Amino acid sequence: MEREISAHTGLLGLLGHPVGHSLSPYLQNRLAEIHDLDLCYLAFDVEQEQIGDALRGAYALEVRGMNVTVPHKQAVREYLAAEDEFAAKIGAVNTLKHEEDGWHGYNTDMPGFLNALKDDGVELKGRRVVILGAGGAANAVLCGVLSSAPERVLLYNRSPENAQALMSRLSAFYPQVEAAVVKEAADLPEAMGGGADDWIAIQTTSLGMAPNVDALLIKDRDFYRRIETGYDIVFNPADTAFMKAVRASGAGKRSFNGLKMLLYQGLRSFEIWTGAVTGQEDARELLAGMAERLK
Ligand code: ATR
Repeated sequence: MEREISAHTGLLGLLGHPVGHSLSPYLQNRLAEIHDLDLCYLAFDVEQEQIGDALRGAYALEVRGMNVTVPHKQAVREYLAAEDEFAAKIGAVNTLKHEEDGWHGYNTDMPGFLNALKDDGVELKGRRVVILGAGGAANAVLCGVLSSAPERVLLYNRSPENAQALMSRLSAFYPQVEAAVVKEAADLPEAMGGGADDWIAIQTTSLGMAPNVDALLIKDRDFYRRIETGYDIVFNPADTAFMKAVRASGAGKRSFNGLKMLLYQGLRSFEIWTGAVTGQEDARELLAGMAERLK
């Protein structure tokens, strides 16, 4: 149907630096179309020192909602009137909603990650999960994993002190989960267990992203042999070195990239702003549209 911007059109936006390659404008504007809502979503490239001004200005202009991306997910927290449980635990906000008393902050990266797994039929409950990386993405992923009653969780990162800090902070919220940091990559296969081959592995670093498509945090085949299902948050290229390494380690292995996680965090943000829930069929079309735009 024909959409026309009028004096009634509501504004949504993205706050980040840089934002030039973001798929969110495509995704969110398509969602407005699909749900027949008079909304327009634009990307705003804002530098760190302008965050406060940008948020105050956007609020005064009645911007309905915003996504927040790198590097502002932590910095926006000091301008909020309220934040949800996940944002508080993770310490990062990727969604803002305009409310009477100011901006309310949410983290939809974590539910987005969990919903993507659910859609792929991957259940974390009772499973053994190894997470690679300890940056911003690992924060939401580890929180999502710990909240899903896994049997056991291992975290490995190039800098063990970052892994330890992240694990200590988040595992305090989930003391019932058996979770540990592995300091040396060489110790991973043993920590995962001799005959094990049923681990879920989640790669949360930026390694392997185009143009450095061959970069791989762990090269040891003994590590990959223990993995049944691999997730890479990287989605460009669509088939990453990590995903290939998982599949090459044995028959019946599955691997997924991070595009669906990005889609589902966006669907949840749109739901927070508008109340509109997106169905499976539309979600599939949007995923294909996003993949198309990466080519
Ligand atoms: P973020 O914005 O998500 O915090 P980041 O600071 O670039 O991104 O780091 C993300 C993750 O990628 C971290 O786990 C980081 O490891 P360190 O904590 O050791 O820095 C990891 N990472 C980035 N580049 C890496 C590289 N060349 N080798 C290994 N790990 C790397």
